[in-house]
Amino acid sequence: MRVPKVETGFEKPFLQRVENTLIMGTLRTSNINEELQNIAPSKLVVKNVNKVFSSGKVKVDALSDINFKVEEGEFVCLVGPSGCGKSTLLNIIAGLDKPTSGEVLVDDVPVSGPGRDRMVMFQEHALFPWLDVLHNVLFGLNLKPNLTNPERREVARFYLHLVGIEKFANSSIHELSGGMRQRVALARSLAPNPRILLMDEAFGALDAMTREQLYGELQDIWQKRRKTIIFVTHNIRESVCLGDRVMLFATHPGRIVEEFKVDLPRPRNINDAKLTMHAAKITAALKHHIDGTEVAE
Ligand SMILES: Nc1ncnc2c1ncn2[C@@H]1O[C@H](COP(=O)(O)OP(=O)(O)OP(=O)(O)O)[C@@H](O)[C@H]1O
Ligand SMILES: [Mg+2]
Repeated sequence: MRVPKVETGFEKPFLQRVENTLIMGTLRTSNINEELQNIAPSKLVVKNVNKVFSSGKVKVDALSDINFKVEEGEFVCLVGPSGCGKSTLLNIIAGLDKPTSGEVLVDDVPVSGPGRDRMVMFQEHALFPWLDVLHNVLFGLNLKPNLTNPERREVARFYLHLVGIEKFANSSIHELSGGMRQRVALARSLAPNPRILLMDEAFGALDAMTREQLYGELQDIWQKRRKTIIFVTHNIRESVCLGDRVMLFATHPGRIVEEFKVDLPRPRNINDAKLTMHAAKITAALKHHIDGTEVAE
């Protein structure tokens, strides 16, 4: 059994890899070119959203009066302690759950269920262990009626190349490290070319070095592929490293307590001193709103 040993050390610098990937796209059939081209990212409106979970006599106010807008192509991070409703909100935006009241509009159309315009990447990679890497990415492309099977494979390989794991296309999931699995999950989420990418603690289970590398790569992919991204995290520094805007949540009930614009230049490095200062400001705000001991700086 081949056990890949690298997180890092892909032979080409990342940007060059993206450029090569895009150039490769121009050599392909018009179906594939159409599929791979950048599409306009969506805007999003979350309007008066409330969510109450009831079981027996227990009632949980998971979300209370949530209102915000996300512009086309914006990168917004939702930060807050455990139980403040971040995943619940992401599931509602994805159309996997319904609000008790209120609504979510994507490009002015109310969300009524899941759609390929909104792909979700979960904390646990949620890959299918019985499928190899390539077939995991192909899974999201099965419902693309405009593509033949060979074209789907080519699109899947494009995204595997983009996230730097094309040479593991035929590997089993259990052969991959955590960081490589998250790369497969990212490729699978990107493959249907969604307008919005919803990421729930996507890097939470990874070691610090792998996470740092993926922060850089995600920022590059976001800039190259022009997606609207909503990224959920416990980690305030992570949110400042990635977001144009950080929405701060608190619990009981789950609600937005403050929002911060982050106008630091990109690409951002999580160890940057200015970024650390920005994160400290948000941590202080969180401590002001709640006892913020559950949230990592
Ligand atoms: N299906 C469900 N049934 C009942 N209660 C639920 C359900 N899903 C979530 N909750 C409750 O709603 C609240 C918000 O949960 P949610 O998972 O959205 O929080 P979170 O901010 O994502 O937390 P974490 O950071 O730990 O992932 C919690 O109190 C949780 O127990
Ligand atoms: Mg959660």
